[in-house]
Amino acid sequence: MELTNKVAIVTGGASGLGRATTDVLAAGGAKIAIFDLNAELGAEAVKALGEDKAGFWSVDVASAESVEAAVAAVVEKFGRIDVLVNCAGVGPAKKIIDRDNNPMPLEDFSKLIGINLTGSFNVARCCAAEMAKNDLVDGERGVIIHTASVAAYEGQVGQCAYSASKGGIVGMTLPMARDLAKVGIRVNTIAPGIMGTPLLRGMPQKVQDSLAATVPNPSRLGEPNEFGRLAGHMVENGYMNGETVRLDGAIRMQPR
Ligand SMILES: NC(=O)c1ccc[n+]([C@@H]2O[C@H](COP(=O)([O-])OP(=O)(O)OC[C@H]3O[C@@H](n4cnc5c(N)ncnc54)[C@H](O)[C@@H]3O)[C@@H](O)[C@H]2O)c1
Repeated sequence: MELTNKVAIVTGGASGLGRATTDVLAAGGAKIAIFDLNAELGAEAVKALGEDKAGFWSVDVASAESVEAAVAAVVEKFGRIDVLVNCAGVGPAKKIIDRDNNPMPLEDFSKLIGINLTGSFNVARCCAAEMAKNDLVDGERGVIIHTASVAAYEGQVGQCAYSASKGGIVGMTLPMARDLAKVGIRVNTIAPGIMGTPLLRGMPQKVQDSLAATVPNPSRLGEPNEFGRLAGHMVENGYMNGETVRLDGAIRMQPR
């Protein structure tokens, strides 16, 4: 699918990997709708992208009502939805039992799954319903991209909930692509390794260097723009479907 004059929703688009993706998709000619909780960063992004080419919606991806209302508002503003890139996510770590052998509160597990996994499905279901109304062009009506993590495969200590959420995203990629095949919507997932997003770039250089040393080649953190460019390629390459691609410099995470 060509990006020119398409409408793309990017969840988590106010920061990090999502923000980098908005730049790549906008450079390709797409209009951008950012769904995020961070209104301040969202407004900055819209200003940088251009008020006529981008919009911000304060959305909690975990809420059915919030997403349904925002998707309807995007259709009202831009007329259609062609692309969804799901980048909204959180990753607090907690072990299943703490030092005193108390169990992790179940609510912590459910909350993380609710944002990362259910949230990704939630936005996808609403966007797919809109994409299905588009005219078929070159066999396509829409493209959905999710963000997993290498933690889907090699979760570290404290990552039961995070890894389960990302493993769930990897697991739903193929059935979602199969569900949507008849209507011409492709579904792919990116599983990033250690990316140099603001959170990591804010860490002491020593910490960044030691993280970079764990990446075989190239031995550095991934650039958010490298994620954005892969997302852009997934939109443009019409034969890519039902797949999860690791973007990780060949890292395989150790237990800690
Ligand atoms: N940065 C990495 O190294 C890395 C590695 C692997 C996977 N990931 C995944 O990539 C995605 C983006 O990560 P990032 O590093 O860019 O993080 P980030 O914190 O910079 O951006 C995430 C954005 O999601 C938004 N968000 C959080 N909860 C939300 C909710 N309920 N509704 C709407 N928006 C919400 C935040 O406000 C934030 O703007 C996440 O899913 C993360 O798990 C990141």
